[in-house]
Amino acid sequence: MERGKSSLQGVGVPSLQGVGVPSGVVDQGVSQGTYYAAVIENRADFTGRVVVDVGAGSGILSLFAAQAGAKHVYAVEASEMAEYARKLIAGNPTLAQRITVIKGRVEDVELPEKADILISEPMGTLLVNERMLESYVIARDRFLTPTGKMFPGVGRIHMAPFTDEYLFIEIANKVCNVFVCI
Ligand SMILES: C[S@@+](CC[C@H](N)C(=O)[O-])C[C@H]1O[C@@H](n2cnc3c(N)ncnc32)[C@H](O)[C@@H]1O
Repeated sequence: MERGKSSLQGVGVPSLQGVGVPSGVVDQGVSQGTYYAAVIENRADFTGRVVVDVGAGSGILSLFAAQAGAKHVYAVEASEMAEYARKLIAGNPTLAQRITVIKGRVEDVELPEKADILISEPMGTLLVNERMLESYVIARDRFLTPTGKMFPGVGRIHMAPFTDEYLFIEIANKVCNVFVCI
C-alpha cells in the first residue's frame, strides 16, 4: 500500500451526517481522511475485489471500499454498531447493493467467499491496547486469500522519552494509593 495523503479536499466522501452514531466514533476526521485517501489512491487494489471490513463500526470504511469499486464488501461488526452501519449504508443505495453487514465476531462468523482485501482500523492505544490486532490477524487467517492484501499491512510504535513533573506526581500519587510507597 502506498502512503496516502490525509486530505478530504475535493473528494466525495460518503457522509455520516444524519446517522445517530456516538460522537467518539465519528469525530475521527484525520483517521477517516487518511483511510479514504489510502483506499481511493489505491483504487486498483479494490476494483472488482472482495473486501472484508474487520470490525466495521459505522461501516464508513466499507463505503470507501465500495466507492473504490469493490465487487462486494462484507462489513463484520460484533457490537450493536452493526445496526448503525446498516442504516448508514442503506442511505447510500448505489453502494449498499455491494455491501453486506454481518453482526458477529470475526472469530466466529462464516463468509460465503474468501477475501482479496482486508480493511480495518485495529489500532489501540500504543497500537496493541484493546487487542483488536489479534482479531485482525485471525480475520487474515480465516478470510484472506494467500495473495490478498491488508489495509493497513504494517504498524509501528514510536516512543520518545520525556519528563513532566506534574504528571509524574499525579501518577505516583495514584500508585501510592494502591501500593504502599516508601
Ligand atoms: C476502532 S472501531 C472501528 C471503527 C470503524 N472503522 C469506523 O470507522 O466506524 C473497532 C470496531 O471493531 C469492533 N470489533 C472489535 N473486535 C471485534 C471482533 N473480534 N469482531 C468483530 N468486530 C470487532 C468493535 O465493536 C468496534 O466497533
